[in-house]
Amino acid sequence: MFKRPLTQIIAHRGSKGTRPENTLSAFQAAIDAGADGIETDVQLTRDHQLVIMHDERVDRTTDGTGYLKDFTLAELKDLDAGHFFSPEYAGTPVPTLDEVIQLLIRNDFQGVFNLELKTNKIPYPGIEQRLAGYFQRQSVPFRVVFSSFRAKSLITLRALYPEAEYAKLFKTAGQQARRMQRRHQVGALHPDIHWVKANRFWLPHVQLRPWTVNNEADMTYCFRHHFAGMFTDYPARAVAVRAEIQG
Ligand code: G3P
Ligand code: MG
Repeated sequence: MFKRPLTQIIAHRGSKGTRPENTLSAFQAAIDAGADGIETDVQLTRDHQLVIMHDERVDRTTDGTGYLKDFTLAELKDLDAGHFFSPEYAGTPVPTLDEVIQLLIRNDFQGVFNLELKTNKIPYPGIEQRLAGYFQRQSVPFRVVFSSFRAKSLITLRALYPEAEYAKLFKTAGQQARRMQRRHQVGALHPDIHWVKANRFWLPHVQLRPWTVNNEADMTYCFRHHFAGMFTDYPARAVAVRAEIQG
């Protein structure tokens, strides 16, 4: 009998709920939990290196202060990106994109790697060229999905690197996102779960991967609607919920 594909569990910033977000420790925990995918956020340092961090400022997740764009990679590497989560993780560094990719390769990761370009507030001129160059040099044995709230970043990168998959992130502008999907052929939409539920936005022909799905009720909602995927801070919890529902 035909079985619909399982909703993929994508670890948001790694296993953000149980480890300091966007660190190698968080990505390793996501792999160990059995996540089908990993989501993370990329930005550019002052010396144009591709690094992993969610906020445009380093203040919330490190012991430094200021905008990431004003740090060189060496300066960023001096910061502590673990202590804010728990003293147990003191000394955990901010990873580069390459360090994350090498961790996934070492773990024989075969899932989906979703890299979000954090270009909606600071456009980081040249980041798309850097990413295309990186992925052209470094072949990876897993699926790569680029996403962004900024459509222009996706269009620019897609022209340089059409081999990857593309997804539009959005909070509320569903119509705009669907137009984007049709015109620019992004393969999927990544909406806020609250917006999805409020608008009953679950068209069968649209690949949806809502974020951020952390409680069992929202997880169950995504699994029951057979969404393509979902982002969660708690991949181990999602694996357990899915096993109960989908077997
Ligand atoms: O990619 C899903 C989600 O990460 C988008 O929001 O702010 O957590 O990067 P944010
Ligand atoms: Mg993100």
